Amino acid sequence: MVMRLTGEEAAHTDAGRSYVGMLDTSAGREMAEHVAAQWPHARVHFVLRKWQLWTWMNAASVNAPAVGRQVVVLGAGWSATGIDWAHHCADAHVWEVDLHHQADKEALVRGLFPLVAGRMRMIEADLSSLGMVLSGLRAGGWRADRPTLWVAEGVAYYLAPDRFAALLRAALTFHPANRAVVEFGLAHHLLREDVRTRTAAYHGYLAAQIGLAALQTVDPSDFCLRSGAIPLSWADPSSMELARNGRTLTFKSPEDSGMRMAVLGPA
Ligand SMILES: C[S@@+](CC[C@H](N)C(=O)[O-])C[C@H]1O[C@@H](n2cnc3c(N)ncnc32)[C@H](O)[C@@H]1O
Repeated sequence: MVMRLTGEEAAHTDAGRSYVGMLDTSAGREMAEHVAAQWPHARVHFVLRKWQLWTWMNAASVNAPAVGRQVVVLGAGWSATGIDWAHHCADAHVWEVDLHHQADKEALVRGLFPLVAGRMRMIEADLSSLGMVLSGLRAGGWRADRPTLWVAEGVAYYLAPDRFAALLRAALTFHPANRAVVEFGLAHHLLREDVRTRTAAYHGYLAAQIGLAALQTVDPSDFCLRSGAIPLSWADPSSMELARNGRTLTFKSPEDSGMRMAVLGPA
């Protein structure tokens, strides 16, 4: 659904765009049409979060090139992020972790991009199980003793907050140069009333489609306490619009949306 709504704006390189163009997104058609009609802000959120993610991934790897040479994309799904990064950064290795479809994605990537496929590994693991994730990564050649950039876009909603915090705590503590770029939904009690109503309806719809009781949201101060992560940057859709477009368009202030992103470092 995300890939169908976002289209080519979900990618940042020619390779990523050609990958997105080849994806069969028909399974997400009904959801994408319903979301676009009911919550037109959702598509803008997707475009902005992918832009912010890419901007921060670049900034992190410019500041500390070693951190961009090992990138782990958590809950990667069918996203183009890993493919983009492997093309953008010629000496980067990328590991993508998801519950589903990793073998299919790996085969697709191998067919489309044989030259970079050797630097990409798709791992099937449950992010709720830290042991499973780490053993999968290690078996796939990831080195805990080397700096790593961790990416968590659109996945915090599916993990119990304590599991998400434990994952980030581990991810950040392996190396002092490690960074994480994360996206999440603010806890509903922190939202302005109209945004809370809109977000609750949207989350309720998604949860029902996916077969979950609810989507998870995050209280940032609680999350930082539990994960031990230090936030190095924050962004919300209005700040992203301003940085990307030179003016705010859909979101005039941080209170207009419950979506937040952060760059985290180890305490
Ligand atoms: C909304 S999609 C986001 C995909 C991609 N990160 C993006 O933003 O375009 C959420 C992804 O998280 C994955 N996911 C959810 N719970 C998970 C878990 N416990 N372990 C691993 N992956 C999970 C889903 O399979 C799905 O691919």
